[in-house]
Amino acid sequence: MTRDRQHPPLGDITPEVFMRQYWQRKPLLIRQAFPAFKPPISIAGVKKLAKSDEAESRLISREGDAWQMESGPFGSLPKRTDPDWTLLVQSVDLHDDAVADLRDAFRFIPDARLDDLMISIAGVGGGVGAHFDSYDVFLLQAVGTRHWRIGQQKDLSLKPGLPLKILKDFQPEEDFVLEPGDMLYLPPHVAHDGIALDECMTISVGFRAPTMAFLAQGMLEAAADQIRARAGMGAGPFGEPPLPGPALAGRYQDPGEKPAAQPARIPDKLIDASLKAVSAVAFDTTLATRFLGCWLTEPGPSTQFDNPSDDAPDLTVEWPTGATFKLDRRTRMLHRDGNLFINGEVVPGKPSDFLIALADARRMSVPSAKEARVTPSVRQLLDNWVQDGWLLIE
Ligand code: SIN
Ligand code: CO
Repeated sequence: MTRDRQHPPLGDITPEVFMRQYWQRKPLLIRQAFPAFKPPISIAGVKKLAKSDEAESRLISREGDAWQMESGPFGSLPKRTDPDWTLLVQSVDLHDDAVADLRDAFRFIPDARLDDLMISIAGVGGGVGAHFDSYDVFLLQAVGTRHWRIGQQKDLSLKPGLPLKILKDFQPEEDFVLEPGDMLYLPPHVAHDGIALDECMTISVGFRAPTMAFLAQGMLEAAADQIRARAGMGAGPFGEPPLPGPALAGRYQDPGEKPAAQPARIPDKLIDASLKAVSAVAFDTTLATRFLGCWLTEPGPSTQFDNPSDDAPDLTVEWPTGATFKLDRRTRMLHRDGNLFINGEVVPGKPSDFLIALADARRMSVPSAKEARVTPSVRQLLDNWVQDGWLLIE
């Protein structure tokens, strides 16, 4: 069951209090975060995905201290009555609309932080062992019951030689049995172990946090793209249309250089010129917005849209009165300061308020073509997105 953005699944806690006191700081158990919860996908539906080559999946089983992990797609899977196995399917929100709709309930956290909705199903005794994650996660119990134990230990060393990350010395401090609709929030690095008490399904709403090294590298790559584009060397993944920036058109000059005493030594002037050239690059909000907008909206390598114009190249898009635009579950759309990004692309020009509102709401009533906010160029963009399968008309 889906809640809207005004009613986040936090029980009596407001999003303000959650973000101030718990997010990235401490665990929170929310009983009946989703009252009368109905799973958006069946156990059979999750198994079906794990048997297809569309989704990434892993099967984990345990016999005593011996752990086994296999990667999908799977020809056959354990029976519901078999004990001690767990099947994990990654990014189910990209494969199923009802699962994708569950993301709406978590949009009090910026879309830029959301990673995916992973779903696990397990037979009695199944689990992935005591471990920690580097990301924030909401563990929503969808079917059956699971016994969670958690601890805030400092020693996060892992058992060597296992196919998955298992803590060497798990020290649980609290434990809870979660029933359907209950949810446990864990910030990064909290040790946890969840064991299925019966046939169960858990939905992990996971968030991503890039390393500082990744952010620095991305900024440098976006700057390099901008320099290449300005030098007429073509645009790269961050470059279309090119950002305004230094042309760096001149060439290195060294009039008055003294005769070389050590001919193989790199000259001081060349060092100084290199530093001066790079200092002309503005590492500013505009560059960060471009890098983040393109990177965060880039579809994953295996993402494929259902592209209606493949079947009907001359498809003309009708805008029926009373219909709704809905961003496809795979579409990523972000904005900042009048810059708009969709599926790794920069939307050219200054985007209209309509497009910004669509990014925030992900659903909008189809406006009448006469409405002032839908200029011919906005209409053209929306029609293209419909043809590419990025935007649906319902
Ligand atoms: C699971 O659903 O079994 C594992 C999820 C997690 O611990 O992160
Ligand atoms: Co975990």
